[in-house]
Amino acid sequence: MKTVIKNGHIIDPSQDIDGRFDLVIAEGVIVEIGENLATEGADEVIDADGLLVTPGLIDIHVHLRDPGYEYKEDIITGTRAAAAGGFTSVACMPNTKPVNDNKAIVHYMINKANLEGSANVFPICTITKGQKGTSLVEMGDLKLAGCIGFSDDGLNVECGDVLRRAMEYAGGFSMPIIAHAEDEGIKSGGVMNEGRVATELGLAGNPWVAEASTVARDLMLAELTGARLHVCHISTRRTVELIREAKARGVKATCEVTPHHFTLTEEAVRGYDVNAKMGPPLRTADDVAAMKEGLADGTIDAIATDHAPHHIDDKNVEFNVAANGLVGLETALPLTLNLVREGVLTMKQAISCLTDRPATALNIPRGTLTCGSVADITLIDPDFKWTLDAKTMKTKARNTPFDGWELTGAAMLTMRQGKTTFQREQ
Ligand code: DOR
Ligand code: ZN
Ligand code: ZN
Repeated sequence: MKTVIKNGHIIDPSQDIDGRFDLVIAEGVIVEIGENLATEGADEVIDADGLLVTPGLIDIHVHLRDPGYEYKEDIITGTRAAAAGGFTSVACMPNTKPVNDNKAIVHYMINKANLEGSANVFPICTITKGQKGTSLVEMGDLKLAGCIGFSDDGLNVECGDVLRRAMEYAGGFSMPIIAHAEDEGIKSGGVMNEGRVATELGLAGNPWVAEASTVARDLMLAELTGARLHVCHISTRRTVELIREAKARGVKATCEVTPHHFTLTEEAVRGYDVNAKMGPPLRTADDVAAMKEGLADGTIDAIATDHAPHHIDDKNVEFNVAANGLVGLETALPLTLNLVREGVLTMKQAISCLTDRPATALNIPRGTLTCGSVADITLIDPDFKWTLDAKTMKTKARNTPFDGWELTGAAMLTMRQGKTTFQREQ
């Protein structure tokens, strides 16, 4: 099977390619990039005139809820949502039921994704058994099974010594520790950002210090142990400053920001919108500005969604008890392209935050169009205008604060190993 993608604007930050070229795929592998390539003998020719052709997008922070919470999402629907959003690979978090702290679940996730899914799934295992914060998982065995990193996401690892030992152990296997950094004590039951809006709404506040103080601890433990630390969903100005400073001193740290944390502020919670409730919470306009500065100067490595599907019954309750999180796979690309239109990022930087940089952060063998690599490719129309109708999303869940938003930019065709996983109807 041979496919030629003609006339596209190829952007591949991993090889510094940014220009009009053709691309040839044979048997699911990229074999050539060049000008005016012949189409003789091709089984399929795709005209990508007016489209960007990029490495398949990679989301390194996704909750697929499978096994155990399939009423919220499963590997089939979650990866379908990924493909619709332009993603060909996702790293999935281990807070399933049972939690992913063992080889059987790693194998189950990879096999189900390969057999029935629409994207590659790279499992992240817990740091601690049962996600209980005390004893460590079998990291070497899990790496052999196909796990790419360790995270107790959803929960902070409260005991600093447990996290230190986890870093020492993971470092020995060249595996990253992926931190949901939020001090439970300081958070103290807060359900939104601490500040004036929380006071006006009568909601308990979760201050920026809960995140930043924990990130400071985690960065110092990474410095002490020499291990690789990836900080999830950063949300505060102080967090960006701490990571910028640690990187400058050579600490092996990377981090991600979600589209909601660079798009929305705590103001979105007014009206008690449960779809604007997540951990960490939406912050202030100044924090949003800091996210953009961190993206622009490269301090922030990746844009990742923290796609957190929930059933209506988990959300349609009083704000205080509503589940944390929102779905993000199908809106990440246009929200990221807003940063290009605002002049925060160049197109190449934006694509890099969704391809090679997240791949590097978590050692995912994707994110490039180099000859010989797997043909995971996304065709993007950056100017495609559409309105989000939550009811028509591919995810099972409907918890998005962006319902009804007019968005610009979309994946028109998503391809995994040379096979189409999504094609947008026009
Ligand atoms: O908002 C969130 N939702 N933050 C997390 O850390 C966990 C996630 C979830 O699992 O729903
Ligand atoms: Zn988290
Ligand atoms: Zn998460």
